[in-house]
Amino acid sequence: MVAATTVTRIFFSDAKTIIASVKTQHSVRDPATMPAAARATAPGDLLGKLGARTFLARYWQKRPLLVRQAMPGFAGVASRAELFRLAANGSVESRLVQSRSGRWTLAQGPLSAARLRRLPGHDWTLLVQGVNHHLPAADRLLRRFDFIPHARLDDLMVSYAAPGGGVGPHLDSYDVFLLQAGGSRVWRIGRPRDAAERALVAGAPLKLLRRFSPQQEFLVEPGDMLYLPPGWAHDGVALDAGMTCSVGFRSPSRRELVAEFLQRHADRLELPGLYADPGMRPQRHAAQIPAAMIEATQALLSQLRFSRADVAGFLGEYLSEPGARVVFDRPLRAMSRGRFAQAASRAGLRLDARALMLIESRRVYINGERLTPGRSALPALRQLADARALAPATLGPAVLDLLYPWYLAGWLHPGRDWS
Ligand code: SIN
Ligand code: CO
Repeated sequence: MVAATTVTRIFFSDAKTIIASVKTQHSVRDPATMPAAARATAPGDLLGKLGARTFLARYWQKRPLLVRQAMPGFAGVASRAELFRLAANGSVESRLVQSRSGRWTLAQGPLSAARLRRLPGHDWTLLVQGVNHHLPAADRLLRRFDFIPHARLDDLMVSYAAPGGGVGPHLDSYDVFLLQAGGSRVWRIGRPRDAAERALVAGAPLKLLRRFSPQQEFLVEPGDMLYLPPGWAHDGVALDAGMTCSVGFRSPSRRELVAEFLQRHADRLELPGLYADPGMRPQRHAAQIPAAMIEATQALLSQLRFSRADVAGFLGEYLSEPGARVVFDRPLRAMSRGRFAQAASRAGLRLDARALMLIESRRVYINGERLTPGRSALPALRQLADARALAPATLGPAVLDLLYPWYLAGWLHPGRDWS
């Protein structure tokens, strides 16, 4: 354990102490003793013997968990060069965080390869968001988390840290799985006990905690995975150069959910008529808002009712809306509908990595749009939404009617492999 001080930096001389303390931490998996079936890459497999059900019941949104060798031999989803290339791309969100003599700096991407190459040999981290939109290995990694609903998934962020690099002690409003890929890193974590422990450093370019009181620390190595629920303070510092894959699950704030719902609901409201005050009496104070006006408005508002279908429809549209930076690539030379049907029956289909597809009851939501397909189309659409791919299949005309425009919009592609 670490003393409750503001520990924001780790130096290499700390490593031995850290390793000693880490040996006492809970490890849930010994891959060498696992049966072959358990080593298969089913969703949730990375939780080892614990299994998805037990993980969700005991840890999800409740307490952190360190899984030693969740993915033995995990080498990451991108090479350093690929990550640098993404950081230089203007349509990809990236950040560079550096600390120099206790002073933090933040630069937003795009970040040119030349600039990244000029960085010193220590104390910086490059963070690239939405890597799953760009690299097949990253998209495949997310499928390992399919025991959690897609409606909660945000993205896969990959960070590359030079020795000593980190982003400082902070809190996230995300459930996050931090999977180490190459290099080793020390994570210090703690649950803030009060508002003072959640207070931020004033004027810093990052949301850094003013008083971080770590309660546990872990040295993680390639293949290890740390799960943190939202609101847990954490600070990860690289001991040697390496990458961390952060699989983030978004917890929208209650305020965001209600505000978004009301805004969208307002567009659909049908409330004919005007406010009326035929019983008006002479006013003594012209500036006074009439009590009758307040009461009539309150009565009107209290008549508002939201059905389950209203709420489900809102969630489906809202949660499947692509991010502001997402632009789909339409096929350069689009196939005819007949050729598309042949390609789907020969090679199957896959959703574009940027497409968001959700299902509730008989409604299908894709990229912020809502549709209610006929019953016969639903099983194929459900398979496509769950697995984000469809095995080669002869698709009936109802499914083709739906999917062909998605292909033209760049939302799905023939072939099951993304190369
Ligand atoms: C990192 O990968 O450096 C930061 C991830 C996090 O703290 O959420
Ligand atoms: Co974080």
